[in-house]
Parts: sequence; structure tokens; C-alpha cells
Amino acid sequence: MDTIKTAFSTPILVRDMEAANGVNDRLAEIILDMESRTPGMKRSNIGSWDSQKDFFEWPHEEISTLKKWVVKGVKEITLKATKQKYEPRVGDMLAHAWANVSRADSYRKIHNHESCTWSGVYYVKSDLVKEKSISSGNIEFLDPRMLCLQAELPSSSFGSRVRVVPRPGRLVIFPHWLLHYVNPVEDDSLRICIAFNVKLETQTVRRRSGTMRPLQEAVSVPVGEASLSSS
Ligand SMILES: [Fe+2]
Repeated sequence: MDTIKTAFSTPILVRDMEAANGVNDRLAEIILDMESRTPGMKRSNIGSWDSQKDFFEWPHEEISTLKKWVVKGVKEITLKATKQKYEPRVGDMLAHAWANVSRADSYRKIHNHESCTWSGVYYVKSDLVKEKSISSGNIEFLDPRMLCLQAELPSSSFGSRVRVVPRPGRLVIFPHWLLHYVNPVEDDSLRICIAFNVKLETQTVRRRSGTMRPLQEAVSVPVGEASLSSS
């Protein structure tokens, strides 16, 4: 056997939705209306507004459309990550999502997402694709192979960053553990996006969780009594 394997690859789905134009204007209205009526949440966002994580529950047709796009994307990136061995059903997917409104000087610190399977972002509105700047408002992913940062190999991907431009209608899906950040918005433009997490409840996950019981039951006997009876 004589081969050079490409090991430890990390899938990142980037898709520009063709039907986005009919959806984005309405999504922007819905999100800006919510922003005007509710206080923002504090997460990794600096200077921008984050909604609560119930965005997928808001009762709007356009949000149902977005959910269908997310389901399709999750199926495809899962098939890619499992070498076509596992195509998740929509019934296997648990998800939550939140909207974000970013204006000048806002950015997002380096972070990964909470424990799940896939995370992602959908861009509703972005005026940030400017001739004058190649980084304003972009999302950048860091090489998760941290020791690669020490590799001195020009033109290789070791220790590099992957930059994705926030074009309206663009859907991005990536593993939840992949560190990323959002560059500061450099001018007075407006960016609206929706971030989400998807957890796949596979049969294996359900089987494992089926063998577990709440710890609360095990400690329902007061600790003092338990130690007395065992002595
Ligand atoms: Fe994020």
C-alpha cells in the first residue's frame, strides 16, 4: 500500500440558498421587531443583540422554511462526516436557535458552542461585503489541531484559519466544538443572522442514556443514614 491520507478533516458546510430573497426581508422584519421589544442576552456577543434561544419556536412561515434548510444541511454534513453511513431522520434532531443583530463595533469573542452535534449560522442581512475590507464581520474558524500552530510549513493548512464571508442567504454548518469568532463590524452597516445548535439523538445515544438513572434517586437516602447503615 502506498498512499498519503488526509486525516482529521473537519467538515464545514457553506451553502447560498437560492430562494433566500423571498424569505430574508420578512425574517429581518420579524427579528428587528423582537429586538425593539425585548432585552438582549449576554453570550459571546460584544455590542450586539442576541435573542433568547427560542427562535425556532416563533410562529412564522419563514422560520419554518429556514428550519427545513437546516434539516437538509444537517443531513448532508452528517452523511459527509460518516462517509455516507448515517443519514439522520428529522425525528433524530433536537435544536434551538437565536437571532443576532450586529451594528458598528460589535463582534463575537472566540468560542465554541455547547455540547451537541452541529452548530451553524444563517445570514439574513449583511452589508459588510465591502471592497475596502476583507475582514469586517467575517466569521473565522481556527484549526482545532492546536499543536499545528507550531508547524513551520509555508503554504500548508497547518494552524491556518478558515474565513467565511457573511453573505445574505448563506447557511454555514460546522461541528459544535470548532472554535470560531466574528471580526468587528468596521462601519455603520447592519448584520442580522440566526445561530443554531442541533443535537442528533442517535439510537446509540438513546441506548446509552437508557442505561442511566437520575443520581437524585441514588442519594434520596440521607448521606448520614447511608454511611451509618453500611458501618
Ligand atoms: Fe458561534
